[in-house]
Amino acid sequence: MAKPTSRDSCFEVHDLEPREFLEQVHSFEFWFQSVEGYLAGTSYGHRPGARDEPLAASDRERLITVLCNYCVGETAALEGASGLVAIAPNRFAKVFLSTQVVDEGRHLEVLLHRLAELGVADPEAEVERRASASLREFKRRLLALVGSKDWEAALFAQNVILEAMEFTVFQTHLQSADPVTAEVLGGIVKDERRHIGFGENELGRRLRESPHRRARIGEVKRDLDALVLETFEETLREIGIPASERPDLGRSYLSAVARLGFV
Ligand SMILES: [Fe+2]
Ligand SMILES: [Fe+2]
Repeated sequence: MAKPTSRDSCFEVHDLEPREFLEQVHSFEFWFQSVEGYLAGTSYGHRPGARDEPLAASDRERLITVLCNYCVGETAALEGASGLVAIAPNRFAKVFLSTQVVDEGRHLEVLLHRLAELGVADPEAEVERRASASLREFKRRLLALVGSKDWEAALFAQNVILEAMEFTVFQTHLQSADPVTAEVLGGIVKDERRHIGFGENELGRRLRESPHRRARIGEVKRDLDALVLETFEETLREIGIPASERPDLGRSYLSAVARLGFV
């Protein structure tokens, strides 16, 4: 009898042997099954009929700044993930990262499109104008790690730190965002969750095999933490999260990273 595939209703990915599990969850086949549920019928990340509610001028201004910074984060993720394909030590990781490149390219595209929907005439120029200094610096350091071919350190910066930061911020933002922005962010968050899962799985395995690499991960974390927390503070302020709640979100990001054992 033929083995069930991810298209069969009886298929359960967690029943698979470890190697088969890796083969499945890192495949384009699995990726397509994952995204088709929430992207089918959408146009630029939201239902074509979703009603755009008018925003007050000051809310629109702040939303544009926030989306511009998301574009910087997504460009970092796109360039980071594509650079990681070349240095990934195995085929599973290369294939998964190639699906991630597609996701990050889509994220950048839908966010730029959202800026255009909000009336920004030249979204890319606006991103250049509004990008925060701390996020630009984070991007520079991430791409330097990828360029240095330091696989574990670069994967940690990209698929744990950057992804956990984006996940926490987008998840928080979509709860108070206008309905169209919330739909766009909702689709992105689903992808980011998959990216974090890959980083956790791949790094966890590498660190079990070579525990001495843990010290390097700790070094990268210490190097990037201040930048990440500064970026958090700026973005959460623009989203309109009260100052009293911002440290909690910063801490929830840090504890998410700590839970993965990367401290
Ligand atoms: Fe992304
Ligand atoms: Fe991502």
